Amino acid sequence: MSTLRILAAAAFAVAVAAPALAKEEPVSFSEDVKPILDTRCTACHQSGAEGTEKSGLDLTSYAGLMKGTKHGSMISPGDPVTSNLMVLIDGKADKSLQMPHGKKKLSSCDRDTIRKWIKQGAKNN
Ligand code: HEC
Repeated sequence: MSTLRILAAAAFAVAVAAPALAKEEPVSFSEDVKPILDTRCTACHQSGAEGTEKSGLDLTSYAGLMKGTKHGSMISPGDPVTSNLMVLIDGKADKSLQMPHGKKKLSSCDRDTIRKWIKQGAKNN
């Protein structure tokens, strides 16, 4: 193959691959995010449990998650970086506030799922 043909083939491959990379799979609240909260958070974050009693945050529903704590919202739709929930589960706040409280950190895969869902607008989908 001539150099020119190789270059042309490479350019074609990039053109085909780029849109596939740019388009991110939509993350679903009910199918992707809620199961993580149900497994790792709601034992402490439901009415009557320690986390909800102390912080006011009830993670058993979309409404509860979006309402946030008694101090305010934990999710900024579209902006994972300023979403306090992300800061806590990434362990970037004080150790005493890392969530899940006193338990193993969420896997980076689970955290990325939540991060993408917030980035895509934190919808009730
Ligand atoms: C073992 C119990 C427990 C588990 C599991 C747990 N939490 Fe908590 N969570 C707490 C407690 C207790 C507090 C209150 C901390 C305080 O105010 O000292 C809290 C507070 C919070 C807060 C509010 C922090 C603030 O700034 O007021 C957020 C957000 C939070 N949890 C998110 C989560 C998420 C998300 C999960 C699951 C990934 C989770 N928690 C799992 C016990 C838990």
